[in-house]
Amino acid sequence: MRPYYITTPIYYVNGEPHIGHAYTTIAADLLARFHRMRGRPTRFLTGTDEHGQKIERKAKEQGLDPQTFVDRLIPSFHEAWKAIGCEPDDFIRTTEKRHEVVVDELWKRCLASGDIYLGHYEGWYSVIDEAFFTEKDIENGKVKENGHPVEWVKEPGYFFRLSKYTDQLLAYFEAHPDFVRPEGKFNEVKAFVKQGLEDLNISRTTFRWGLPVPGAPDHVVYVWFDALTNYISALGGPGSVDGGAPGALYAKHWEPHGEAVHLIGKEITRFHCIYWPAFLMSAGLPLPTQVFAHGWMTVNNAKMSKSAGNFLPPAPIAEAIGTDALRYYLMRDVALGSDSDFSHASLLARYHGDLGNGLGNLLNRMVASIVRTSFDGRVPHVTSDRLGDLERNVIATAERSAESAAKFFADIAPHRALEAIWELVGVTNKYVDQTEPWALAKKGETARLEVVSYTVLESLRWLSLMLWPVMPSKCDELRAQLGLPPVAPTEGLDRWPSAWGGLVAGTQTKPGAPLFPRMDDDQQRAFYLRLGAPVAAALEKKVEPKKAETKTDKAPKGEAKKETKVTTSTTDAAGTGLITIDQLSAVDMRLGLVKSAERVAGSDKLLELKVDIGEPEPRTILAGIAEHYAPEALVGRRIAVVTNLAPRTFAKFCKTSHGMVLAVKDASGLSVLSPDKDITPGVKVS
Ligand code: MSP
Repeated sequence: MRPYYITTPIYYVNGEPHIGHAYTTIAADLLARFHRMRGRPTRFLTGTDEHGQKIERKAKEQGLDPQTFVDRLIPSFHEAWKAIGCEPDDFIRTTEKRHEVVVDELWKRCLASGDIYLGHYEGWYSVIDEAFFTEKDIENGKVKENGHPVEWVKEPGYFFRLSKYTDQLLAYFEAHPDFVRPEGKFNEVKAFVKQGLEDLNISRTTFRWGLPVPGAPDHVVYVWFDALTNYISALGGPGSVDGGAPGALYAKHWEPHGEAVHLIGKEITRFHCIYWPAFLMSAGLPLPTQVFAHGWMTVNNAKMSKSAGNFLPPAPIAEAIGTDALRYYLMRDVALGSDSDFSHASLLARYHGDLGNGLGNLLNRMVASIVRTSFDGRVPHVTSDRLGDLERNVIATAERSAESAAKFFADIAPHRALEAIWELVGVTNKYVDQTEPWALAKKGETARLEVVSYTVLESLRWLSLMLWPVMPSKCDELRAQLGLPPVAPTEGLDRWPSAWGGLVAGTQTKPGAPLFPRMDDDQQRAFYLRLGAPVAAALEKKVEPKKAETKTDKAPKGEAKKETKVTTSTTDAAGTGLITIDQLSAVDMRLGLVKSAERVAGSDKLLELKVDIGEPEPRTILAGIAEHYAPEALVGRRIAVVTNLAPRTFAKFCKTSHGMVLAVKDASGLSVLSPDKDITPGVKVS
């Protein structure tokens, strides 16, 4: 099997890691675990980028020398990765000797190719980006793209002949259509190169914190030339050992023998997709197989920053809700290539919905209850001739899920893999509802109960394998409850599920604690407060329903409506009639699952719905749709609802509505808005 190598960017050590860094690291960890459990020789690298002007300045601000400054911060990275269940095989620091020797070698090779020359640099530099910018990238002393300040730098410098590589890079891109993903990013890279490339300044003289340029110690190597080299220095690349021969790890995991994938945030594509390949071409070394650029994450819809108070270190969140729940949420909620938002409320909705109600419940219902009481906790024996259509449907779903999930994980689309896996969670839960094992137990229909129990337990075994890359601890816990050993991947052995029936009859199951225990309102409130997050509007309202109701009750009829309108659709200050993203996000719209629906006695228009929106109890919502829908047509249907609308009391019917159903209406009639997939109740509409 072809060895696999996955890397994260090496993070600047100018502060502690936050949830954005965690996002990349978890995605890389997931990919490493996936390939490892498929039996591939796998290596996962992360590390820290410790040189450069930014760090030198930060250290100075604190009155420390740069080495002491970075040394003090390193433990926070190790602790953060441990807290989120990431287990890199190696952690490279650019201040290590093993790194310096490879940077030296790379420099010398580029020099030998005639691609490095001494010149004079004059231009704009952004210390935050550690990058040079041209006049067209700058506006009012700031980088147009990100608003970072630039300063005019004038100094002698070594240049890399990047201009020489324009055609060679374009030809390489043409020949390697998957070199950069997603495709949109690749197109941007190609367009940038097509404009023609300028030579790049790769040394600095105005500060000292960096690696010395070989043979010119008054220059330090440009921090990106230094940093990018980590991907091969950590493998013991050229220059590592006497005589410059690369080590065994390099030979194994780097091209052409290994598949080497760099996972990065989208803001550093230029460095990874243009500079890095050009340096390698010049040095006569193979390029990585692929660069995958993921989107950026905001927190509760705002850019993360310490001053905005939404700087989120990952460890406290993992402690509050569990490492694996956090990993699941981050990998499930967004397409890796797109931008995303971290919201505490969505995290809780996924926790209670997908994980608690979906997966945890399945295990609990079966192992802690049915199998324990009916079969003494042992897996029953079932022969294939006893399987009916319902069982065959579960098996077919398991096979379909496993096939798609494997494809999507391999394709770096974890959210789609998880979607595919949740099809099995959904179908197995439905199977339990259809077969009613409790009733079978009560009626003493043991033969049928054996079939049902085995089907659910085996489905859980498949899930414990497919979900392991994302939730390794919880999957091993789940397996322990099934009486199975931890996954523990082994090189050369494919552990991905493929054959139904692997769970051996007679295996002793071991009921344990619920995997994802439900948090009641007080615990949820404590969760928000502990993390300094805004307490979700829905929860606030649930906690103080009386207050809101009285307020609405007292208001004269039309006025309550007006009040609602003002809070949800205020226009922006400039009076343009447009709303800001903050105003939009003040409206909490969620996906709901209709649990029950009935006509309101005395009204032709109103239906009373109980809607599961991921909260402990279903919401009561009165909707004026009785003329368009029979109540039974709505039960089991997924609909979009506004959940933070002030409660509205219909005094005539002595009923209060705690939300609003979203619907569209024209001459052809009224239609409630429904997704075309079985989306989890409680997920935010965005
Ligand atoms: N040191 C360079 C990378 C050198 S790689 C040879 C650097 N470091 S960084 O500390 O700024 O980290 C950048 C990476 O952290 C991003 O590329 C991304 O992977 C991750 N993220 C940092 N903030 C993020 C978000 N808000 N959202 C998602 N990922 C983010 O650039």
